Amino acid sequence: MKFTLVTLFITILFFGITVYVFLMTKWSTTLNFRPITRTTQLKYPSVTTELIKNNNSSINNWISNVTTEHIKNNNSGINSRISNVTTEHDKNNNFGINNLISKQNITDNFSLRTLIRIYQKDIQIEDMDLDQSNWIPLNKSTYHLPRQKNCAVVGNSGILRNSACGEDIDSNDFVFRCNVPDVDNYVKDVGHKTNVNIVFQTTMLELYDLCTNATLNESTLAERLNVLNGSIIWYPESFKSKIVTNETVKLVLKCIETKFNLQFQFAVSALGFTGNMRRLLNLKKPTTGMRAIVAALSLCEHVNVYGFYPYIFDQNGKNVSYHYYGPFFRLDSFDTSHNYSAEFHTLQTLDNRNVLRLFTNDCKH
Ligand SMILES: *[C@@H]1O[C@H](CO)[C@@H](O)[C@H](O)[C@H]1NC(C)=O
Ligand SMILES: *[C@@H]1O[C@H](CO)[C@@H](O)[C@H](O)[C@H]1NC(C)=O
Ligand SMILES: *[C@@H]1O[C@H](CO)[C@@H](O)[C@H](O)[C@H]1NC(C)=O
Ligand SMILES: *[C@@H]1O[C@H](CO)[C@@H](O)[C@H](O)[C@H]1NC(C)=O
Ligand SMILES: *[C@@H]1O[C@H](CO)[C@@H](O)[C@H](O)[C@H]1NC(C)=O
Ligand SMILES: *[C@@H]1O[C@H](CO)[C@@H](O)[C@H](O)[C@H]1NC(C)=O
Ligand SMILES: *[C@@H]1O[C@H](CO)[C@@H](O)[C@H](O)[C@H]1NC(C)=O
Ligand SMILES: *[C@@H]1O[C@H](CO)[C@@H](O)[C@H](O)[C@H]1NC(C)=O
Ligand SMILES: *[C@@H]1O[C@H](CO)[C@@H](O)[C@H](O)[C@H]1NC(C)=O
Ligand SMILES: *[C@@H]1O[C@H](CO)[C@@H](O)[C@H](O)[C@H]1NC(C)=O
Ligand SMILES: *[C@@H]1O[C@H](CO)[C@@H](O)[C@H](O)[C@H]1NC(C)=O
Ligand SMILES: *[C@@H]1O[C@H](CO)[C@@H](O)[C@H](O)[C@H]1NC(C)=O
Repeated sequence: MKFTLVTLFITILFFGITVYVFLMTKWSTTLNFRPITRTTQLKYPSVTTELIKNNNSSINNWISNVTTEHIKNNNSGINSRISNVTTEHDKNNNFGINNLISKQNITDNFSLRTLIRIYQKDIQIEDMDLDQSNWIPLNKSTYHLPRQKNCAVVGNSGILRNSACGEDIDSNDFVFRCNVPDVDNYVKDVGHKTNVNIVFQTTMLELYDLCTNATLNESTLAERLNVLNGSIIWYPESFKSKIVTNETVKLVLKCIETKFNLQFQFAVSALGFTGNMRRLLNLKKPTTGMRAIVAALSLCEHVNVYGFYPYIFDQNGKNVSYHYYGPFFRLDSFDTSHNYSAEFHTLQTLDNRNVLRLFTNDCKH
């Protein structure tokens, strides 16, 4: 008797918890902000410029090596494109692409139908089906981008500061940018045309913080949001991530739409984009910018790449900041798992093979 009662009690308790958990996790049409459990923390450098300046040991081999070589030869200072600096690296390539790769290879491996799928303007954020486990082919709520002739992909490297590349960038038919950069204050250097903004996990979380944490209203991110207005926000990753879920993304979109009065369209990728890219380009953890470049290569006839640069000095030996906007941070002061060096060599290789054009100098013709 006692045993049965205990069993019954436990069963009811278990049932209750199950129903509760089900109800709490079930998506309802109202968007409720909830705390996110992070598996990775956002990390910002706490190093001052002075400290970095006086600390030679923090300079990685690859940086000092390549930079020294680079500056010594100072060939590329003359051209607007880096051409032969990488030949040696490319030959003994341990990191970048091992196989010959053509534009056709990339087009073949990333079909436009699966690469970027854009929700129609009239689809409400609440009604977007972000259930990737059950993706059906394009239908009337989504469409994919039409092909473009000339595209620019604009990375955020400090190499763009004082570059005067704005006009060159804007002369492209279609412009990709990454992770909500500051455009308004640097139009002369980076232009202002913005068709697609790739917003990746870390930035999604920053936007989430901006929406949920009133004390962050005045953060610089809030001031940069204008770049999103009128653009397509593309989230190029699976929602299976424990960090950023489909629910998080909806909340962020709804929030920036209403709280900051922004108009935009949202786009997602089919599953497999990242995996495909990792295999094809032999990069373990591609940056957001690299994703944009792959997208552009699939979409556009000609791809012009700006603002990608992994070194701490430019070709005249001047310091290069991690980003062209915001305070000065040296690239190697960041705790990052990206391999900027490998990516840059990949880009140089693609440049050498005329798959794309990589610009690392200023545009003062
Ligand atoms: C850093 O290294 C350079 C070249 O090796 C040297 O000239 C400079 O004095 C060093 N700076 C410090 C603070 O050690
Ligand atoms: C110099 O840089 C290294 C590597 O980033 C760091 O571990 C070390 O604490 C730094 N030293 C000083 C004096 O800042
Ligand atoms: C630079 O590269 C050479 C070979 O290319 C290597 O022997 C050396 O250890 C590297 N690092 C530095 C700091 O010179
Ligand atoms: C680049 O390298 C190739 C072969 O190594 C050479 O023929 C060409 O002249 C070089 N170009 C420049 C600009 O140095
Ligand atoms: C690129 O395409 C060529 C010809 O279609 C093929 O032989 C080669 O294996 C491809 N390379 C990669 C990395 O897929
Ligand atoms: C790229 O496409 C070719 C055929 O077009 C295919 O054989 C190859 O497996 C693809 N590679 C990747 C990494 O998807
Ligand atoms: C279109 O696709 C979306 C998402 O893939 C789905 O939610 C919706 O039910 C589909 N609509 C039609 C009419 O098939
Ligand atoms: C998120 O995706 C899961 C499956 O992966 C699905 O069950 C759920 O309905 C989706 N939620 C939203 C808000 O789209
Ligand atoms: C909100 O932002 C401030 C300033 O960055 C921070 O100190 C605080 O912990 C944040 N609060 C929450 C709930 O994240
Ligand atoms: C931040 O924005 C919220 C909502 O718009 C507002 O209620 C709050 O007062 C703002 N906080 C600051 C510090 O401006
Ligand atoms: C975004 O663009 C729309 C349409 O051009 C405009 O009405 C709105 O004020 C803009 N929002 C911001 C924050 O500038
Ligand atoms: C590289 O060349 C430019 C001119 O093309 C010159 O102004 C600059 O000082 C040179 N840099 C180095 C480190 O020699």
